[in-house]
Amino acid sequence: MKIFVDSSDVREIKKWDVQGVVDGVTTNPSIMLKDGVCDMEESTRRVCSMMGERPVSIEVTTNDHDEMIRQARQFASWSGNVVVKVPVVNEYGESCLGVVHTLNHERIRVNATAILSFNQAMLAAKAGATYVSIFAGRIADEGGDPTVVIRNVRHWLDEWGCRAEIIVGSMRGPVDIQNAALAGAHIVTVPPQFLPKMIDHKYTRETVRQFNRDAEKALAQFAEVRAASGAERRSA
Ligand code: E4P
Repeated sequence: MKIFVDSSDVREIKKWDVQGVVDGVTTNPSIMLKDGVCDMEESTRRVCSMMGERPVSIEVTTNDHDEMIRQARQFASWSGNVVVKVPVVNEYGESCLGVVHTLNHERIRVNATAILSFNQAMLAAKAGATYVSIFAGRIADEGGDPTVVIRNVRHWLDEWGCRAEIIVGSMRGPVDIQNAALAGAHIVTVPPQFLPKMIDHKYTRETVRQFNRDAEKALAQFAEVRAASGAERRSA
């Protein structure tokens, strides 16, 4: 399973990249706003170059289908690893599958986003999306169980040999990440603030503390034994 960082904060992405756990990056207009991005192109190019060949998803910013296609072509021209996020419907409920289909024909990779149901994921995969982004937190906000949607979509993709991969996003905490991973996500996209929580544990710290204290004592003991045996050799 891959881990993407759900962020446009270059420092945060880098911090986790050097630790070997970043397989790609996703962002959206709300994340860019929160991270203080002022120039979408400049920010995208920087993240893309840091990621090398790994995918970087950026989202279209319009309800209009023709404009989505125009933006997608422009985004894709910025770097070879750009993936264009297209919502499955616009804010008026109009299907954006035609956009996904057109871009797929042009070999522009699409991350079909804002998916909250099995049917949306199935249609997006059929239309040619490379990734289907299931929003776990928002499914749960509405009283749904995201693990059921993830498991069903994964089962369906595997059953029919569909190449689309599931990205699970909209994480609300570390438990959502492990639930998504175990439910069959190909990729989990994680807001950087959850990564320290995923790796840290109070009792691990305590365990390491105990080992460090005992290591100090053991090293002192080794030194004493070495000194004593040196003294014995000298007096013999
Ligand atoms: C992922 O691709 C999404 O952009 C993101 O995780 C959405 O999260 P939210 O529901 O917290 O806005």
